[in-house]
Amino acid sequence: MKTYTIALIPGDGIGGPVTRAAWQVLEQVAKTQGFGLASTVFPWSCDFYRKTGAMMPADGIETLRGFDAILLGAVGWPAEVPDSVSLHGLLLPIRKAFVQYANIRPHRLLPGVEGPLKAERFDILCIRENTEGEYSGAGGRVHQGTGDEVAVETSIFTRTGVERILRYGFEQARGRRGKLASVTKSNAQKYSMVFWDEITARLAAEYPDVTVTSYHIDAMAARMVMAPESLDVVVASNLFGDILTDLGAAIQGGLGFAASANINPDRSAPSMFEPVHGSAPDIAHLGIANPIAAIWSAAMMLEHLGEVEGARAIMAALENTTARGIGTKPGRDKTDDITRAVLASLNG
Ligand code: NAD
Ligand code: IPM
Ligand code: MN
Repeated sequence: MKTYTIALIPGDGIGGPVTRAAWQVLEQVAKTQGFGLASTVFPWSCDFYRKTGAMMPADGIETLRGFDAILLGAVGWPAEVPDSVSLHGLLLPIRKAFVQYANIRPHRLLPGVEGPLKAERFDILCIRENTEGEYSGAGGRVHQGTGDEVAVETSIFTRTGVERILRYGFEQARGRRGKLASVTKSNAQKYSMVFWDEITARLAAEYPDVTVTSYHIDAMAARMVMAPESLDVVVASNLFGDILTDLGAAIQGGLGFAASANINPDRSAPSMFEPVHGSAPDIAHLGIANPIAAIWSAAMMLEHLGEVEGARAIMAALENTTARGIGTKPGRDKTDDITRAVLASLNG
């Protein structure tokens, strides 16, 4: 029997309960599909930071490297640890160190879920660059605390980085409805985004079967609300993709439904699966976090591991659950009740 080793990082706030829910579902699927899952739980979080002075041990990345995949809940507890410390100490270094350059985020309505839009039939796959761009981390501050203070934060767009994410977008579009939307802002950003557009245009010649259209980020934000059904695959830089995917989450009923996969397409290091949402401090102790985003992310993990039937079974169970009206209204159902319904649907 094939057994996959999974590093579980629940993190902070609702990260714990939603990861537990996803793990229960995974264990159930493993049993019925006949593969094994071996988890190691890492308590790396803001709590861990308070106790040790670091979000993860110095050899944390090397420890994770040996796993087949990483399943993460959420990181951040801003009341106690600045987000700039917690995210740069755990989540962002993992994405970069393991070259998880493609952050894949599907946006569609599960049956029975009412989004805020009239449009119901949209199926968007957002592909967000995940290692550079506006998140390069290059910058600094000088004359701190004085009236002459300066803060600089430089976006870095490399040919390697831009080309590989756009190529990933073209490949995904080829496997779906053949439409790629490349998100730009070359009317204002005349270096990085002109570069992005040039590479988009060059790759387009290699993919004559894909229809590619460039949209400025502002127009894309409006399009996702006004005509989401016109979109198939959307490829964007790190920050543009971050913002668009919370918008994507909103139109699919809320952050409780938005899943994501941080993929290392070369498989030279583990990929990481996590919901789009954060630790939700406002509801963290209420037991009402929607686990669907985390469970959907777990399905994406199985798909990446090659357990396609298992991934399908999870998606069918989620769809069956929401179609019965369970987990469809934010805050109404308990995390545990939604999880139980998904497990029951898997068994049935
Ligand atoms: P958030 O995603 O945690 O919450 C935004 C809103 O959505 C809140 O009202 C919350 O209650 C709701 N929400 C989120 N997930 C939900 C779920 N599963 N079920 C029901 N409601 C849900 O965003 P935020 O408040 O901006 O950030 C809180 C903390 O999380 C910060 O520290 C932030 O930096 C961090 N964060 C981490 C990640 C990550 O680890 N990937 C992602 C986003 C934010
Ligand atoms: C996300 C989150 C992270 C990001 C934060 C927490 C650094 O918002 O995964 O979308 O911006 O990438
Ligand atoms: Mn985000």
